[in-house]
Amino acid sequence: MLYSMRLPDGLGNLNREVQQLPRNNWQELEQKLFLRTVNRVPVTLVRGQGTLAWDDQGREYLDFVGGWAVNSLGHCPPVVVEALERQAKTLIQASNQFYTIPQIELAQLLIKHSCLDRVFFCNSGAEANEGAAKLARRYGKLRLNGADEVITTHSSFHGRTLAMTAATGQSKFQEPYIPLPGGFVNVEYNNVEAIKRATSEKTCAVILEPIQGEGGVNVPADDYLKKVQGWCQEKGILFILDEIQTGIGRTGTLFAYEQYRVEPDIMTLAKGLGSGVPIGAFLARENVSLFSPGEHGSTFGGNPLVCAAAHAALKYIIDNDIPGQVKRVGNYFMTKLESLKRQFDSITEVRGRGLLIALEFNQEIAGKMVLACLGRGLLVNEVKPDALRFMPPLIITEKEVDKAIGILGDVLGKNAKC
Ligand SMILES: Cc1ncc(COP(=O)(O)O)c(C=O)c1O
Repeated sequence: MLYSMRLPDGLGNLNREVQQLPRNNWQELEQKLFLRTVNRVPVTLVRGQGTLAWDDQGREYLDFVGGWAVNSLGHCPPVVVEALERQAKTLIQASNQFYTIPQIELAQLLIKHSCLDRVFFCNSGAEANEGAAKLARRYGKLRLNGADEVITTHSSFHGRTLAMTAATGQSKFQEPYIPLPGGFVNVEYNNVEAIKRATSEKTCAVILEPIQGEGGVNVPADDYLKKVQGWCQEKGILFILDEIQTGIGRTGTLFAYEQYRVEPDIMTLAKGLGSGVPIGAFLARENVSLFSPGEHGSTFGGNPLVCAAAHAALKYIIDNDIPGQVKRVGNYFMTKLESLKRQFDSITEVRGRGLLIALEFNQEIAGKMVLACLGRGLLVNEVKPDALRFMPPLIITEKEVDKAIGILGDVLGKNAKC
């Protein structure tokens, strides 16, 4: 069957060529149509339900990628689908010049269950961090004699906008875009002294991930965040937590900061907040909430459709103590991975919290493992050439963990030089 969807004008010869491709050849189409920003895993997902997904050939997969730590309640969770259906028939988009109820209800829930006082809604993690950095600059201008520098850490990841590329402490993301916007200083993670040394009269804030996700699931010392917060308080600078990957139950509490006995001045969220729908947010303490009308904005931020879905997901997560479930199943998963480690010398470390876990090897086999797991019906992520990351839906069961462990054990037996 030929591909017959009408393609946008302006593709010239490519347009005609692409229209001749067989309909099921989505991967070939993608090669021709997209800017080359990602090496995709060779599977075309067409459907998902709970912890399972299916491809265009009808093959079933147990999903331990979870939309990249996004599908908190799994694929197409009924509460989110119902909220979307209801809201889609009521009000999909309105300008932020008007009050809309779903975003106010979502704000109420977030404020009630966090240590923060005010919220701004946007569309992604990068946009949330941009907003947080802008708010930190306003704070610096108004309260810290114009201080405008934000301290960030090596191996962090804060997003793909130009400013967040500068904030992200990984040269592979930065080098293609040099010169980058100024105002960010990268220092070693899990090292309070490095933050102290980098602090000057120009510093307005420190931004950290409670656990670094994209950097390889790096868990800091138990007292790191507490010490950084203490330093920020001593210097009167802002303590910002990027909970975009760790938030909304992922690590076994609603927010990871709860486990480290700290309270940020600003916190950013995205990913799991919408359980599949695109939404970001940053929350701030009252004394930090210094924007004046017109100083920040977002056309789609707080969109009623998305906020209704996020509210339904968040309410479900809180009412059903999903973070408690994450803690239990996450511990079970870690125990099982530890026993795999005892079986295979090629595994050097198991690390993480809740359902954000990495498995590190003594060789660069993660890419091969991803493909081998795919062949056995398990979706996993290569976070580094020598490490896999697991970020399944938060509703995963012990039985599904057992299934994944069985596949990982078989695949390791075949792919690792033990
Ligand atoms: C900790 C953290 N911050 C920010 C981002 C950027 O989020 P987004 O891709 O939604 O812009 C990510 C994405 O992986 C992340 O893990």
